[in-house]
Amino acid sequence: MYAQVVEGSGKGVKSAKDMSPEELDFQSKIDAGQKIEPKEWMPEGYRKTLIRQISQHAHSEVVGQLPEGNWITRAPTLERKAILLAKVQDEAGHGLYLYSAAETLGISRDEMYDQLHSGKAKYSSIFNYPTLNWADIGAVGWLVDGAAIMNQVALQRTSYGPYSRAMIRICKEESFHQRQGFDIMMKMCRGTDAQKAMAQDAMNRFWWPALMMFGPSDKDSVHSAESMAWKIKINTNDELRQKFVDQTVPQAEYLGLTIPDENLSWNEEKGGYDFTDPDWDEFFQVISGNGPCNAERMRARTEAWDQGAWFRDGLSAYAEKHAGDNANQGVKDV
Ligand code: 3HC
Repeated sequence: MYAQVVEGSGKGVKSAKDMSPEELDFQSKIDAGQKIEPKEWMPEGYRKTLIRQISQHAHSEVVGQLPEGNWITRAPTLERKAILLAKVQDEAGHGLYLYSAAETLGISRDEMYDQLHSGKAKYSSIFNYPTLNWADIGAVGWLVDGAAIMNQVALQRTSYGPYSRAMIRICKEESFHQRQGFDIMMKMCRGTDAQKAMAQDAMNRFWWPALMMFGPSDKDSVHSAESMAWKIKINTNDELRQKFVDQTVPQAEYLGLTIPDENLSWNEEKGGYDFTDPDWDEFFQVISGNGPCNAERMRARTEAWDQGAWFRDGLSAYAEKHAGDNANQGVKDV
């Protein structure tokens, strides 16, 4: 059965009889699990949705460096500093793979940066919360990277080839990130009472924002229906949130930490935990630019962009000066 969304129709789905021959051919490739590659025909809505999601994902990786970068100079040991530095560098690399994947859809990197800096493009809500102490770096690695991986493992099977291949590389590194966060939490939970209390406090503050990372509940998700019909998304927001809770509860128990949710309980019938939804009003405030650190994050990104102008100009001038070199070299070689 074909299921494709009418462009701009939000949750509506186009049936096979309303599709053009090109659309039918495209949908049958998707349904057969084939990857779509950059030069193939694709519906305009598919291209736009991918640009939106991949670029927002790239922005999340780049903005996500800020809360952790904040602790590089204050890491408690040289080893922790080296590990955190490597992790933050990985995030920059993830951003670059993802920007490259989005560029194959016909948008330039400058346009994407412009969309971020002007507030048109979103980035993950989670990075608008502050990292107040070292335990927060553990909680970010364990919960935030843990939530990110839950989504990203599924995205390895996304229908667009360049995005899928970028996710395969990213997932390898993200699982190391999650482990390093858990390792920090383990050290703190086995430390002094004060250290354990810091770990619990970090968990209390990051639990709800981590649940929000999966997006609004399915009933309020604008894009899920079309993205799932096109296999851009493999799971719904609520499915992934449930998986994350089910995976994280035993880890919290192992650490001896309490999840700050009085309603958390095992539901035998569904084979998963029941849990309280995060505060959706807070979520919509944060994604509308009104979270605790939105202004600070945007200021840091736009300042970095402005301060890097001389470097970009230098690269462009160099490229222009040497533009003919390769062609001339080619002629000589022939
Ligand atoms: N933060 C910010 N905005 C969010 C959001 C979140 N946690 N969840 C949803 N939204 C936005 C959507 O972008 C959309 O707004 P838009 O129309 O202006 O783009 C709106 O809320 C409605 O939500 P939908 O459920 O309809 O949106 P999607 O179908 O796009 O689902 C998503 C949201 C699950 C986040 C999906 O976009 C996705 O899977 N994206 C790829 C993964 C990603 O971006 N991860 C970022 C996490 S951080 C990370 O990976 C870095 C790592 O180093 C920790």
